[in-house]
Amino acid sequence: MKYLFILGRNEDLSIAEIEEFLKKEENEIVSKTQIDNGLLVQVDLPLDERAIDKLGGTISIGEVIAHAKDVDLFKELEKVMIYKGVSNKLTYTLWDFSDMTDKCQEYLKKRFKSEKLKTAFKGLTGSVKTQDGEIEMKPSSKLLDEEYFIFEEEDEQYFGKITQHCDYKSIEMRDMEKPVRREELAIAPRLAKILINLAGLSEGEKLYDPFSGVGVMIQEALLQGMTGLGSEIDGDAVKGAYKNMEWFGFNKEDYEFIHHDSTSVDIPEVSAIVTEPDLGNVRKKIPTKAKAEETLRHFDSLIIGVINNVKGRVKGRIVFTSPYIRIGKKRLSCNIDRICDETGYSLVREPVPEYRDKQIVGRMIYVLSKESS
Ligand SMILES: C[S@@+](CC[C@H](N)C(=O)[O-])C[C@H]1O[C@@H](n2cnc3c(N)ncnc32)[C@H](O)[C@@H]1O
Repeated sequence: MKYLFILGRNEDLSIAEIEEFLKKEENEIVSKTQIDNGLLVQVDLPLDERAIDKLGGTISIGEVIAHAKDVDLFKELEKVMIYKGVSNKLTYTLWDFSDMTDKCQEYLKKRFKSEKLKTAFKGLTGSVKTQDGEIEMKPSSKLLDEEYFIFEEEDEQYFGKITQHCDYKSIEMRDMEKPVRREELAIAPRLAKILINLAGLSEGEKLYDPFSGVGVMIQEALLQGMTGLGSEIDGDAVKGAYKNMEWFGFNKEDYEFIHHDSTSVDIPEVSAIVTEPDLGNVRKKIPTKAKAEETLRHFDSLIIGVINNVKGRVKGRIVFTSPYIRIGKKRLSCNIDRICDETGYSLVREPVPEYRDKQIVGRMIYVLSKESS
């Protein structure tokens, strides 16, 4: 089975999330090829119909419907139904990861004409900004009936259809409409989802967030069928987190927030830690190197304190973000060697940066486990 994942802005992070998600689902990746923001993945098992809802870093998912190797792709396409709808009007676009654009456009035009369809083609005119530059890829219209894709790797070609779309509306709604929001401090729900996947958590497992704020991480864990425990030093944030969970209507037995300093809190056994600790003061000006280093040293001590306080209770991974501070053209992150040395944890994968060009304090994302990598 081959699927196309259209990756979000941070491609490396999106790929890391997809890998961990499929591993957790015990769906082995047989092969994967990336072209721009398209990742073609061959897996052992079919994907869940709403797999997209579990992924924070994927824009859409498509299924391959025709494949050609040493034969003409368009001859193969003759054997399958492309448009399965009932209307005789079709507005469509083409995600193109190939050198066969014109041929493919021509084929689709002819094919739809022969099926007596009135078609309108909409190009991908918007752009998705990536960390390294810009990619000219985004449907120009929301009124599309179908999105197709063409993907070419070495001597093989694939044609397929986008079947799952990220539900931006409901993500935005739950982010904007919940009663207690802290715009400057809270983590975006999509990033929270990515971090949860990096921890390899499954339904029924318990996520612990030692910097739980108003509860975004816990909310996303509960939405995925996990249970959640938060601890937080700010009493108002704890009250806010409870209000938010009630607004969502979650079962009260599935979550708890403890008002306490997480370097000394006592917690029950949990499956994993997933957290965005204090990233230091929100900065409007680029700090000096010395100031950035001081913030990061403070961060190292805080995360070491928390991990050492609770590590006897944590069965699985620890996923956390660290400040990634811009000083001139470079950025500085925490001292991960010191953190690993002083806690007995090791890196599971290479840290992944997450920031926007102009952002002064971005994030570096770390995934740790007790076993050595
Ligand atoms: C970046 S915010 C996390 C935001 C959170 N993800 C949310 O959804 O609101 C960091 C939080 O850590 C809390 N904090 C800082 N030091 C702490 C400590 N030692 N123990 C517990 N919480 C702490 C802060 O009060 C703040 O709410």
